[in-house]
Amino acid sequence: MPLLECRGLSRRFGGLVAVDAVDLAIERGEVRAVIGPNGAGKSTLFNVITGVLPPSDGEIYFAGERITGLPVHRVIQKGVARTFQLTHLFPALSARENVRIAAQARHAGRWRLLAGGALFAATGAAADAALELMRLSDVADVNAGLLSHGNQRLLEVAMALAQRPRLLLLDEPTQGLSVEETDQAVRILRDMLGSGGLTVILVEHDMEVVFRLADKITVLHRGRVIADGTPDAVKANTEVQSAYLGGLE
Ligand SMILES: Nc1ncnc2c1ncn2[C@@H]1O[C@H](COP(=O)(O)OP(=O)(O)O)[C@@H](O)[C@H]1O
Ligand SMILES: [Mg+2]
Repeated sequence: MPLLECRGLSRRFGGLVAVDAVDLAIERGEVRAVIGPNGAGKSTLFNVITGVLPPSDGEIYFAGERITGLPVHRVIQKGVARTFQLTHLFPALSARENVRIAAQARHAGRWRLLAGGALFAATGAAADAALELMRLSDVADVNAGLLSHGNQRLLEVAMALAQRPRLLLLDEPTQGLSVEETDQAVRILRDMLGSGGLTVILVEHDMEVVFRLADKITVLHRGRVIADGTPDAVKANTEVQSAYLGGLE
């Protein structure tokens, strides 16, 4: 059974079909990239999977359980965490405080029985482990607003990891980064992915990043899946080649 399965998933905005009958099956431990030009429906697909938006049609199953239409906090409690395309941080709080707040987002689930000091210790340990994985321990006490752009994007990943997800959704984690920052972020993400059996769906427009991180690629075009397969198979797909490779966003 796949960890995540979408069947006939659609989301309309008025007359616009942003996500159009998408079938998607993500196996445990897989790193899947979702690519496609601006407006293809990638962020909307994430919003529907994570409960930010209800689908117009179709079903979503997580570990075999139907999660279609559940609100965000219930989806988080099931073990799905995400980052956003644009940074969502509390700039006046330290990196560690940002990650700790994110860790508490799942508190009603995993840490429900802990109170007061025990909860503080549990979320603190989760926060420190996540900061370490993203190589942010040295800047844990720095206000998030003062971090480099690259570290801010990594901090967002740390915030998602602190929720100890089973499925992690990353929306353009290298958007806006310089070439050097992108390279650094990809190396840190690769190490993090190599260290455990996390399942990841990654939206990314930088094809180099996609080919370095993904096991499989799904290509979206106007809300529809037009190709699905290994990076080599997708690279060799002439329709994808003419439409996207090189010309992405
Ligand atoms: N909340 C919304 N209301 C209306 N239209 C939206 C909304 N969110 C996205 N769209 C539209 O849906 C389409 C897909 O957008 P999006 O999912 O952001 O694409 P991508 O992330 O692939 O660039 C676009 O045409 C966009 O304008
Ligand atoms: Mg997007």
